[in-house]
Amino acid sequence: MADEILLLPDIICETDTGLATVPLVRERAFAAWQHDIPQEYWTLDGPALTARVAAARRKLGNRLVVLGHHYQREDVIQFADFKGDSFKLARWAAEQRQAEYIVFCGVHFMAESADILSAPHQKVILPNMAAGCSMADMAGTDDVLAAWDDLQEVLGDTIVPVTYMNSAAALKAFCGRNGGVVCTSSNAQKVLAWAFAQKQRVLFFPDQHLGRNTGVKMGIPLEEMAVWDPRLPLGGLTREELERSRIILWKGHCSVHARFTVDQIREARERYPDVQVVVHPECSLEVVQAADYDGSTEFIAKIITEAPAGSVWAVGTEINLVSRLARENPDKTVFCLDPVVCPCSTMYRVHPAYLAWVVEELAAGRVVNQVTVDAETARWAKVALERMLETA
Ligand code: 13P
Ligand code: SF4
Repeated sequence: MADEILLLPDIICETDTGLATVPLVRERAFAAWQHDIPQEYWTLDGPALTARVAAARRKLGNRLVVLGHHYQREDVIQFADFKGDSFKLARWAAEQRQAEYIVFCGVHFMAESADILSAPHQKVILPNMAAGCSMADMAGTDDVLAAWDDLQEVLGDTIVPVTYMNSAAALKAFCGRNGGVVCTSSNAQKVLAWAFAQKQRVLFFPDQHLGRNTGVKMGIPLEEMAVWDPRLPLGGLTREELERSRIILWKGHCSVHARFTVDQIREARERYPDVQVVVHPECSLEVVQAADYDGSTEFIAKIITEAPAGSVWAVGTEINLVSRLARENPDKTVFCLDPVVCPCSTMYRVHPAYLAWVVEELAAGRVVNQVTVDAETARWAKVALERMLETA
């Protein structure tokens, strides 16, 4: 475990109004629905926070486990007992029954899924409740329900709803109730193959890119993939377009992965003729097709870790993971395709001060920031999650 907190300088990040400088150390402005934590945590430096997290963990022993998504910052991921992509962490939550407390260093939809899949005696804690996912927010539950009604009217009972893991529990429950399923970036192709064995078509939300990239890999022509814009009547589509479609793609995207371009790949290849390019499938189809490989965060970590010394890797995913892979593989050249460093600002909201606060509260016998999904939602969301776990 590192004994020092790494505080990164301010970053440039994309906002609704363009690029802006965002202070990384205390993103208080973002924490609209995270209650303030005691002021003393903000006065502690890195080594002090590390020591306090470590002391609280010693006190809790194996009652506590810390899960960390690959995009977590260094000063947080250092505490993770298990690291992984969203699929690996969900599987862990479904299988490991010992720990009473699961502190999930990731974003809200991941913690919700862990709560749904874990045992009733386990409590899932998200250090900062403001750690959401802007892509998940692009599929509002009411909008999806309204789209589903419209689609049933036009296409009848021919559609399986498939939600990407990056979505609210209510949407996973909607899929569970309607014969649908959840997928992640590591199993989308298997899950879609399962869905097509059930019915003729798929409604895929919220990430149009993962849906399109997966459809293309399965040999589905682009003309048979329609994009549903929730702001327009009938998704902005004609009846003919809908009738022709095999995948109806929700118009959602990840703003971190939207930054990667084919030009960046061309420049990387010009600079390093031997470079291998690996990107996350949340990137556009053009970027995925220009890359050598695409896959989940776990796939990206594995392919680079197992690559021979001297190999060169240009990576199209979140910067915390890319920087970690560069540091952990000093015998290789690993760099981010995007010269503007743009972390996932919501993942970044899990600051070590929040982590210290939640674990010290647990050690004192108080549960704070517990993520809970109501029983009815959890029941149906679990159906859709378990269909994924059985398929993948
Ligand atoms: P993974 O499932 O590959 O970890 O991706 C999650 C995510 O949010 C990527 O942006
Ligand atoms: Fe959501 Fe994109 Fe962040 Fe992943 S990188 S958690 S999809 S905003």
